[in-house]
Amino acid sequence: MTKDSAQPIYLADYTPPAFWVDRVELTFRLHPTATRVLSRVAFRPNPDAPGPFTLHGQDLTLIRATIDGNEVTPTLTDDGLTCPAPDAPFVWEAEVEINPEANKALEGLYMSNGMYCTQCEAEGFRKITYYPDRPDVMAPFIVRIESDLPVLLSNGNPAAAGEGWAEWDDPWPKPAYLFALVAGDLHAHRDSFTTASGKPVDLAIWVRDGDQDKCAFGMAALKASMAWDERVYGREYDLDVFNIVAVDDFNAGAMENKGLNVFNSAAVLASPETATDANFERIESIIAHEYFHNWTGNRITCRDWFQLCLKEGLTVYRDQQFTKDVRSEPVKRIDDVLMLRGAQFREDGGPLAHPVRPESFVEINNFYTATVYDKGAEVIGMLHRLVGDATYARALDLYFDRHDGQACTIEDWLKVFEDVSGRDLTQFKLWYSIAGTPHVKVTDTWADGSYTLTFQQSVPDTPGQTDKPPMVIPIAVGLLDTDGTEVVPTRVLELTEARQNFAFDGLATRPVPSILRGFSAPVILEQTVPAEHKRLLLAHDTDPFNRWEAGRALARQALLAMLTDRAAPDPAYLEALQALLADDSLDPAFRALVLRLPSQQDLTQALFDAGQVPDPLAIHDALTAMETAMATHLQADLTASFDAHQVPGPYRPVAADAGKRALANGALALLTRTDAGARAKVQYSDAANMTQQMAALSALQRIGAASDALEHFHSQWQHERLVLDKWFGLQSSLSLPAEAVATVRRLTEHPDFTWENPNRFRAVFGGFSSNLAGFHDPSGDGYALMADWLIRLDRLNPMTTARMTTAFGTWKQYDADRQALMRDALERIALVPVLSRDTKEMVTRILA
Ligand code: ARG
Ligand code: ZN
Repeated sequence: MTKDSAQPIYLADYTPPAFWVDRVELTFRLHPTATRVLSRVAFRPNPDAPGPFTLHGQDLTLIRATIDGNEVTPTLTDDGLTCPAPDAPFVWEAEVEINPEANKALEGLYMSNGMYCTQCEAEGFRKITYYPDRPDVMAPFIVRIESDLPVLLSNGNPAAAGEGWAEWDDPWPKPAYLFALVAGDLHAHRDSFTTASGKPVDLAIWVRDGDQDKCAFGMAALKASMAWDERVYGREYDLDVFNIVAVDDFNAGAMENKGLNVFNSAAVLASPETATDANFERIESIIAHEYFHNWTGNRITCRDWFQLCLKEGLTVYRDQQFTKDVRSEPVKRIDDVLMLRGAQFREDGGPLAHPVRPESFVEINNFYTATVYDKGAEVIGMLHRLVGDATYARALDLYFDRHDGQACTIEDWLKVFEDVSGRDLTQFKLWYSIAGTPHVKVTDTWADGSYTLTFQQSVPDTPGQTDKPPMVIPIAVGLLDTDGTEVVPTRVLELTEARQNFAFDGLATRPVPSILRGFSAPVILEQTVPAEHKRLLLAHDTDPFNRWEAGRALARQALLAMLTDRAAPDPAYLEALQALLADDSLDPAFRALVLRLPSQQDLTQALFDAGQVPDPLAIHDALTAMETAMATHLQADLTASFDAHQVPGPYRPVAADAGKRALANGALALLTRTDAGARAKVQYSDAANMTQQMAALSALQRIGAASDALEHFHSQWQHERLVLDKWFGLQSSLSLPAEAVATVRRLTEHPDFTWENPNRFRAVFGGFSSNLAGFHDPSGDGYALMADWLIRLDRLNPMTTARMTTAFGTWKQYDADRQALMRDALERIALVPVLSRDTKEMVTRILA
């Protein structure tokens, strides 16, 4: 594999490394444009896989190299170097020079606002020095940093420090992708944690001056995560210190480097004035996610990048469990399914579909996807459901026991479950190799007191995969009678055949089924449910997920009828909502979710699945019409809800208060449809926290009445970069269709559009791509604008550019004119002479 080549590499071609590493010593002489990196690495030939001595390296200037103290002259290759080496253990030393300031790709060592930081996953370490940059090579690291900057951090425990230098010692063998270094003028928010076995750990969140007031919540989340992993998984922390650093320029959310997590500042910094409830919840889950990686990812890592889901799917699953525990389980499940359907189903149903464990890739950074992460987590959830809580717990204990300190595969993971449960997981393993979302069609019959459900499953063709075998699908089912009383509590059916019957005997009357409770498998359920059954489930199902799902189905049906039959908003749907809205026994957060209509994306997919050509403008208008009908017909109820769920007193980022605000703000958004923004304007001026302020601003923006508030918001927050991102994102995502392209163009001309910063770029263009009616403007101007900027960003930052090409991922769902315009935009990107291989791979796959 060469870094510049667009040749795919294959899982099937895996070979172990020819040399193991026993110990790494690094010295960094930091300089913005000429940093020197001295490495001293103890290698040992691998008797099981003899081969030449090769090291990865990219954008490095080699100053000198020695083997056992003797000068050597390596041969430089496309992706590193090779050099004759002894057939016995030896010490490699090298000095290289790198230029952190010129590094705008934000991979390897780079600078962000005067601070040095690193991002090495997946293959960034090779931009720091020559090394076997592959996750199956694990070693302890000792790091010395020389710099005048006051704070010098790396992995592991602090070892020694003096004027202008510091040394760090990480005793836990790790792959190079977990290496990190940070240096800067940083301020610590400190705390401490004592582990279950009594070991004290010093905790710190390091931030730029001015951000000290935005650390308390992240710190509390960290301590909660540490305690949770001890209590639920029996996993203790294993170093004397745990450091988190907030960085403004970062391609991802955060990174689990051993003992030194690096966070996108948007994923850790929060104060009531600058962050919304949703921001707080996301920060809590990302802190948990990165912390949980210490065991699932760091202590046990991946053998190769094809196994990425081994750590990511499991760690997402663990952070989801954590959020369910500390917040509301049903609400979290619904949120996660919304995400899964919005991002992963979309990916799985289009040109970018790939298995949870891909079998080939050109650029691994293109596979940090919703499929690997979120479907990866769903697969673990299914395994958990199939084996039960006790067996799941025993399997995880065995996994940590058996594989601690190793670089593992999905085979290792499944073997643990087979050994503990005695089950054969051969068929289950298909979830890792088959792409595409399974469709499960269900029909039912009733005869002589026996009720039979018949399931048929099929998985659609995806790029490179056809004729797929049946999968193991756990389907949680309960039965209600027609009064809404549950007659058969939840039972998990295991669907393993292409077609399979399940009978329920001893019932007095034909029941109403509640199928796929808790969304027990990541599938598309096809069933014909009479509207009165949906209403019954919405009113009475004991399973909160399916209760919500029934409301969702009613909303979708009503909207589709408006779109395809010019129907009026369904009064029965509005009535069902009314009852629910007023039911104070229900969690406000849950009611807020029920009140939320399906997204533009969801309706686009629904129309496409029904064999129609979605019209983004018509979808936008139908949603607006439905919201207006809700505001009109439910005005009294929405007003009552709005009033009853105001949260007095100082802002607290707790789930109970956030749920009330979500319901009140959901009501506000609807009421704004018919009150010309009166309430929203009052809320905007009275707002004492960002949740209230943003909710009011969004409501105004959605009716095109936000210009004064936007101006005010900008002057209030122009020095808070994370809040300014909200200002940009709100306008690009919520501008009315006719104005969206012009608005986005104007935003790109704004002096605060610091487009090299990924958060700012994503705020504008990620927001725009979610504004379907704006982005898909029939002129094609939205596509052209997006393409222009992707081409521009690609020269600096391939990783973020490649990610954002997914805006075009559904192009084949649209009409011929839009398809042609999108194809033009994609081809224009593809034809750029010096396109990065990241973006090249994405555009090629999308066009294929
Ligand atoms: N491992 C990190 C996380 O999930 C994400 C790293 C993203 N890296 C990348 N190359 N996209 O927490
Ligand atoms: Zn992760």
